[in-house]
Amino acid sequence: MTSSMPSPTDNNALKDAANRHLFVGMTNAAQLAEEGGPLVMESAEGIHVTAMDGKKYIDGISGMYFRNVGHGREEIAKAIYDQLSRVSMNVYAGATPATIQLATKIANLTPGDLTRTFFCQGGSEANESSLKMAQAYHVRRGDRGRYKVISRKGSYHGSTYGTMWLGGHPGFPRIDYQPKPANVITVPAPHYYHDEFGSKSPEECGERAAKAIEEAILFEGPESVSAVIGEPISQPMGGVVPPSNYWPMVREICDKYGVLLIFDEVITGFGRLGTWFGANYVGVTPDIMSFAKGITSGYFPVGGSIATAQVADVFAGGPEKTWSHMYTYSAHPGGAAAALKNLEIVERENLVENARARGEQMHERLEEMKEKHPMIGDVRGVGLIQGMEFVKNRETKEHFDASMRVNARLTEKFIERGIWIRVPAYIIPLAPPLIINADQVDELCTAVDESITEVEQELGV
Ligand SMILES: Cc1ncc(COP(=O)(O)O)c(C=O)c1O
Repeated sequence: MTSSMPSPTDNNALKDAANRHLFVGMTNAAQLAEEGGPLVMESAEGIHVTAMDGKKYIDGISGMYFRNVGHGREEIAKAIYDQLSRVSMNVYAGATPATIQLATKIANLTPGDLTRTFFCQGGSEANESSLKMAQAYHVRRGDRGRYKVISRKGSYHGSTYGTMWLGGHPGFPRIDYQPKPANVITVPAPHYYHDEFGSKSPEECGERAAKAIEEAILFEGPESVSAVIGEPISQPMGGVVPPSNYWPMVREICDKYGVLLIFDEVITGFGRLGTWFGANYVGVTPDIMSFAKGITSGYFPVGGSIATAQVADVFAGGPEKTWSHMYTYSAHPGGAAAALKNLEIVERENLVENARARGEQMHERLEEMKEKHPMIGDVRGVGLIQGMEFVKNRETKEHFDASMRVNARLTEKFIERGIWIRVPAYIIPLAPPLIINADQVDELCTAVDESITEVEQELGV
């Protein structure tokens, strides 16, 4: 098929070409075409993105939970340029100064004795690497049968073949990719608002959700279980914060049965929760931590898996200890330069502290909204991962019928008010860049508040 090349300044021609030639991830092409095509960005600065038609939006979910230091950071672009002008690749069996410095920096920032990093390009690859590392760890120690992985409902760990069946939530159906692999075990999430155990308190929910992991390990046979994987705070269901007893109990259970604990910190890593890592927030150190997104704020695709010395050391010694795993572009120096500069900005501008303070401010505003909007069933989150769940009935927690288009209506109201948040199913996610200031939090929350008022009026709520 031949098509004329769209001019980079012609919004309509670009949208038209995108509708014909581009898969826009997780969206339906016909639906997107009906809406006028994808938002084609012309520029971005601070917490704002500007579309080709000149309309400016607050980036309410930081691209996709990654743009921590905000848009338009020329110093990161320059760091990448300078690096690529000097050394622009990695050789087989080699490393570059920037990558070695970055690995050192991450070992220093992460809690406990997390110490050795394998670098890749994104979150799915990071989790793939963590899962492979866990299984290989057991094999090196003589446990060849440990291949099963326990994950929790509601989580998302990636879209590759090895990660897509972990967790699971309505926004990521896997109907095209049957069957579920035999090594994937799924347990309930520690989600008190939708507690599956009939718990009377958050502590009971935390305990029962942790015990569900122990029961799964015993049911499957501990000698067959490699790892438990979870996000310290889970984003897909809207900032689900587990009861505080949950992760310490899971840590103990993993230790009791020789199962490795993998934290997926692809979103929570590098400051978003108001702590450097989710591990700091929940007070538990995993054996392996996956990260991506916030490491470079998305200025260069970088992910990685950092392991404790105890895990990493099983791959040291004779050639039979080698961990057979790599990607061509692992440890790219351009990514390392971007990450080092990005982390320098996070520290220089106290963005971890800002995420904590602005998160508290935002959470308070969301709680106030819940007081006045019957449609809001729950408000949850920590730092700059906040979420609101909207329901038809607060008692039963029943959701609106899809035909009422509540999520589409909210998305449209947000767009009218210059907020870029596409509302999935029945959760409003709020996760702006960590540089957001107090006035901007107010502006964002006021726009969300007004949008909900209008939708409630339309629906007669
Ligand atoms: C918690 C979590 N893990 C893994 C991933 C997958 O990351 P990527 O899309 O970079 O492969 C995501 C992506 O949103 C995520 O949120």
